[in-house]
Amino acid sequence: MGSDLPLRLGVLASGRGSNLQAIIEAIEAGKLTAEVRVVISDQAEAYVLERARKHGIPTATFHAKDYPSREDFDRAVIQCLRDHQVELVCLAGFMRILSPTFIQQYKNHIINIHPALLPAFPGLHVQHKALEYGVKFSGCTVHFVDEGMDTGPIIIQATVPVLDGDDEEALAARILHFEHQIYPRAIQLIAQGRLQIVGRRVLCKGLEKEDQQRDAWGFMNP
Ligand code: GRF
Repeated sequence: MGSDLPLRLGVLASGRGSNLQAIIEAIEAGKLTAEVRVVISDQAEAYVLERARKHGIPTATFHAKDYPSREDFDRAVIQCLRDHQVELVCLAGFMRILSPTFIQQYKNHIINIHPALLPAFPGLHVQHKALEYGVKFSGCTVHFVDEGMDTGPIIIQATVPVLDGDDEEALAARILHFEHQIYPRAIQLIAQGRLQIVGRRVLCKGLEKEDQQRDAWGFMNP
């Protein structure tokens, strides 16, 4: 990471794959110096696999029922990532918890996108929780993955307002728009070797204070 060569990505996803699409489009637009080496799913019918195939990206499916334990499943996935020489694992709606073995193998080389402003509303049913709680702002978070549930160091967040008329779908859609911006951006910062993890904080080299403020407010006020 931090070289001129494209960062080799493995994307793990269980669903529709709109974040994969955003990553692919950022690469094609020259905004992201990376290459998706493989897309892995635990759902054979997931649309994310179709999106990958359309772009000539290798895919692999692993069914949990074919493996006696989570570790065995994870070992198979790790082997596949190794076979494709993946450097950074990007979780994008992958509906499985990774085992500690997996996380140790790729320590600080696994990232995830979550549709809330962590540490608020980790886990599932996120928009339901946000609306029920009554927050006025929500958003999305790209973070490194550690052994906890959505607890790893935060790389980028974007905020959106929660409006009175929102239901779960409307709020999710407003947030998704920003997911598609911050996920490729976070990957590019890693590709450029600009991130440093200091305790729980992720610091970014070469960003002036004004840039950071403009980013944050730009995301808030599209
Ligand atoms: C996104 O909302 C992401 O934040 C969450 O899962 C969803 C995946 O969406 N982790 P997609 O499959 O990328 O469209």
